[in-house]
Formats: sequence, C-alpha cells, structure tokens
Amino acid sequence: MLDELSAIQSDALSAIDSVDSETALEEFRICFLGKKGRLTAAAAGMRNVSKEDKPAVGQKLNEVRKTITGLVEKCTVELAALKDAEAVAGIDPTLPARPLTQGAGHPLSQMLNRAVDTLHQLGFAIAEGPEIETEWHCFDALNTPQDHPARNEKDTFYFDSGKLLRTHTSTVQVRTMEGVAGPPVRIIAPGSAFRRDEIDATHSISFTQLEGLYVDRDVTVADLKGTLEYFFHSIFGKDTELRFRPHFFPFTEPSFEIDVKLHAAGKTSRWIEIAGCGMVDPAVFESINSQRKDDLFSPDRVSGFAFGLGIDRLAMIMHGIPDLRLFSDNDVRFLRQFA
Ligand code: DAH
Repeated sequence: MLDELSAIQSDALSAIDSVDSETALEEFRICFLGKKGRLTAAAAGMRNVSKEDKPAVGQKLNEVRKTITGLVEKCTVELAALKDAEAVAGIDPTLPARPLTQGAGHPLSQMLNRAVDTLHQLGFAIAEGPEIETEWHCFDALNTPQDHPARNEKDTFYFDSGKLLRTHTSTVQVRTMEGVAGPPVRIIAPGSAFRRDEIDATHSISFTQLEGLYVDRDVTVADLKGTLEYFFHSIFGKDTELRFRPHFFPFTEPSFEIDVKLHAAGKTSRWIEIAGCGMVDPAVFESINSQRKDDLFSPDRVSGFAFGLGIDRLAMIMHGIPDLRLFSDNDVRFLRQFA
C-alpha cells in the first residue's frame, strides 16, 4: 500500500510537467483526486490495511493528497499568470495614456444658467409652459389684436388644429397668472420660442428666450429699472451703460427696449438692443381675471412689470459670436472654446 502511494505520488509529479492548459489540469485533477481517481481508490483500500499499519499508511495517504493538491493549486496560478501575460503581449505599458477629455456645458446653457442664477438671487422662481400653444395664450390674453403681424401665417407656425408653436415665452406670464392662487407672482420662464424666419447669421426658426414677470401691490417702473439694471450689470459688469428707450409692446404700457453700450476693441462703441420690457398692461390683467373668474389680478389692486430677452443674442454679444448658426452646428472646435 505504501509502495502504491509512492507510485501515485511520483506519477503525479511527472504528469504535472506536461499539463499546459486548464483542460489538461482538470484531467490531471480528475485522474488523481476525482471520485474515481487513483488516490480515492487507494483511500478506499485503507479498509484492508491491518490495524498496526494504519497510522503509517494513513499518514502517507494524507501526505500524497497534500502534495497532489499543492501541485494543482500551483499549476492553476501559473496558468492564470500565463493567460494574463498572453493578454498583454505586444502592449507597451510604458506608453503615455490617451488623455481624458472632459465635457462642458454648451455656451447657450452656460449663458442661460448664469441668467437664471442671477434672477434666482432676486427671488424669481422658474415657471414653465408648453411650446405648442393656443392663440389665446400667445396673443389674445397678451392684448395682441387679430391683425397684428406676429399672428400672420407667414410669421408663425400654425397647426391644422389652430394651435401654434409659441412665438415668445410671454405665454408663460398668462399660464402662471391663470394657475396661481393669486398675487404676488415673481417668475422667470426660460424656454424655446419659434418664428417663421429666413435662417441667416442673426435669424433662426427656434431660439431661447427668458421671460420675467413680477406682479404685486405697488410695483413701479423704478422696480423694473432697478431689477433689470442689477441683472445686466451682473452679466456685463458694473460699469456697463444701459439705456431704457420707449417702445411699444401690446402687453405692456409703458414699454421700453433696453440697450447696452458695447465697447469692441478698435471700434467706436455702439448701443445694441438687448431686451424688451414694460409695465403689465391693464388689458392683460383683465384677460386673466376673465379667465380665472375672479378679480385677484385687478389692475386696481396690483401692478407689475414684465421683460423678455433672447439668450442666444445675449451669448452672441457676450462672446462676440458673429453667427447664430454656430450654436447649432455642433462643431466641437467652436464649442471647446467655451469649456
Ligand atoms: N415677447 C417679446 C418678444 O418676443 C419680448 C418682451 C418684450 C417680453 C416686452 C416682455 C415684455 O415680457 O414686457 O419680442
């Protein structure tokens, strides 16, 4: 029995040398340690060993099992190392790694976030409205008469249903005043607006606007001016000159356009129009009340100001971008400059 065990051990020691794959190793293991393997068979023979020989044979049996198990373990590790080495063969780990590129916000998103953050600080909350709108929300409620050019099919995208793609975010003024419990209201509404324009360097069929509305008791033009001056000074810098130029919008009275004075290097400075604003027209409040069927927004109780600006235009002015189409071309060489 002892001889047989020694033979098994030396056979295993020489057989392991020719094991060169995981399959071969598994065959080796089954051959010696498996249920029908040689060592298992030898262990079964312990039954026939005399009592006095049992300790010595038992010890030898354990020794041989330990040796063969050790061979299997060692060979497993070696084969795994071989596999790893094959996997990286031909790869030079000392080569520099490919640089990791980090993404950044689109210049329009950056501009919008900045505008929203600044107005947040002044207590304006974000409001939303649908891009597919009714004529009521886009025009009628905003005191825009039937024959106003903006309502023309040449200027606005209409659906067969009579709905339209909103031409401005001023619709959200109406939606908000219709929906809230009552004044005060202090909201900004960033979002897309759509017009049927010929596409060129300064016109697009879709652009991003930011609308603002503040309605409360005793809101005055001074509040309007103070708020928007603060806003534009935060965006363009404290020393930037602004001017409020009388204008006309159907939904505000009085109305103004805001111009900012731009100083481009080597050129004479010029005023450039940047936003529209004004005091909410009483006719708008009346429309809201008729829709709400109450008088919480009665022009006798409340007043308010509204403003609207184009985020694309703001970003173009800020960065000196000459062509609006660059924003949607998605050329990374352009976009990377704002990362
Ligand atoms: N809705 C106007 C536009 O798209 C911008 C505007 C002007 C919004 C005056 C206002 C406002 O709220 O008071 O051109």
